[in-house]
Amino acid sequence: MDDAAKLSLNGQEYSLPVVVGSENEVGVDISRLRGESGAITLDSGYANTGSCTSSITFIDGEKGILRYRGYPIEQLAEKARFPEVAYLLIYGELPNAAQLEGFRQALTYHSMIHEDMKKFFEGFRHNAHPMAILSAMVTSMSSYYPETDEDDEDLNIVRLLAKTKTIAAYAYKKAIGQPFVYPQNSLSYCANFLNMMFSVPAEPYEVDPILEDALNVLLILHADHEQNCSTSTVRMVGSSQANLYASISAGICALWGPLHGGANQKVIEMLSMIQADGGDIDKYVNKAKDKDDPFRLFGFGHRVYKNFDPRATILRKAATSVLDRLGVDDPTLDIARQLEEIALKDEYFVERNLYPNVDFYSGIIYRAMGIPTDMFTVMFALGRLPGWIGHWKELRQDPKGRINRPRQIYTGAVERDFVPLDQRG
Ligand code: CMC
Repeated sequence: MDDAAKLSLNGQEYSLPVVVGSENEVGVDISRLRGESGAITLDSGYANTGSCTSSITFIDGEKGILRYRGYPIEQLAEKARFPEVAYLLIYGELPNAAQLEGFRQALTYHSMIHEDMKKFFEGFRHNAHPMAILSAMVTSMSSYYPETDEDDEDLNIVRLLAKTKTIAAYAYKKAIGQPFVYPQNSLSYCANFLNMMFSVPAEPYEVDPILEDALNVLLILHADHEQNCSTSTVRMVGSSQANLYASISAGICALWGPLHGGANQKVIEMLSMIQADGGDIDKYVNKAKDKDDPFRLFGFGHRVYKNFDPRATILRKAATSVLDRLGVDDPTLDIARQLEEIALKDEYFVERNLYPNVDFYSGIIYRAMGIPTDMFTVMFALGRLPGWIGHWKELRQDPKGRINRPRQIYTGAVERDFVPLDQRG
């Protein structure tokens, strides 16, 4: 591999250093280009721009590979529990038994939210979207747990992981008008969340291990995905040295959009709409292909995966198994399978490498678990927390870390004189 690339501009040649990653990914370092030539690079949507080097997650979109800290997602989904994957992403290595026990205990011990914070929930409208509640509550945690010195970092990380699931469950309870259920120290991370979501004081509730396992897999599959929109947002906000809670809250807001984490809610709404409309799948495939129609097939396509999304492959199988084990017969699963089959053979989708993504099947599983549609993106956020935290921490520890500040090519009006109000047309 050459150690420099050459760029020729206005008759001048520039030498640009080449950076090679541990999986032989190649990047051309243009950071000095503007200083030397006055030119910047332009890449709308950052489709071909590396914003950082990172040792957390590796994706090969052509081969459908996803690895956290080197471990294949398939192995983690099959063999690991969410807290150990969180530890891996945040601290770089799988925990040993003592480390895992300490981490689990900390996650359990810090699950309750400050009693005063419960009052915040009263201020939200009864039908507020739980993502609005989640992002606001996560930011407000910085008022309870300010970063006073560096030693607070690990404690704040644990607080964030532990309390966000409590906040998420409370957001749901608030929406349905039920009393909040406190976390229980005897339960695992996933079981605790399910208990806070579904138990009511009036009757005993036991967490179904099928639900606990399904949630565990879902959270692991969502735990990191390198420089996606929300993670880049966390890094962007964190680069100004904003605190952990503020940075993660920004990531939650970025995730909310339907092109990103909000797609899981949109997928179920779309599948239900197709079903209610008589199950005419061809009609919706044609709508998605029609450039004059804004309709898109939610749960299809990915900026990085151009062959298959390995998370979708796992979830496709998991959806069938979870629904079977729970004895749920959901016609949207049939619609989803038919839609996938038709779209995968269609020239439009084949030509553009559009395949089902992680959000295509996750909603079907969440629905079978009894999780309401508007909570789907909250579930994605819970899963993504360790990745966001890992990236925020990596950024903080980078000795060469700088504030993120892209450039632009200005296309507006050139200089002109101010026109007083009475002289404007
Ligand atoms: N349905 C129909 N056409 C599509 C779709 C779709 N779901 N996705 C992309 N296309 C077309 C798009 O119109 C364009 O066609 P053309 O080249 O003729 O103009 C081409 O495929 C390339 O699409 P793009 O929008 O330029 O691709 P992108 O990399 O900018 O966007 C995406 C990626 C995921 C935002 C997009 O595929 C999409 O909107 N998908 C639906 C939303 C979705 O499922 N999002 C969840 C992503 S996975 C979870 C996560 O990590 O966020």
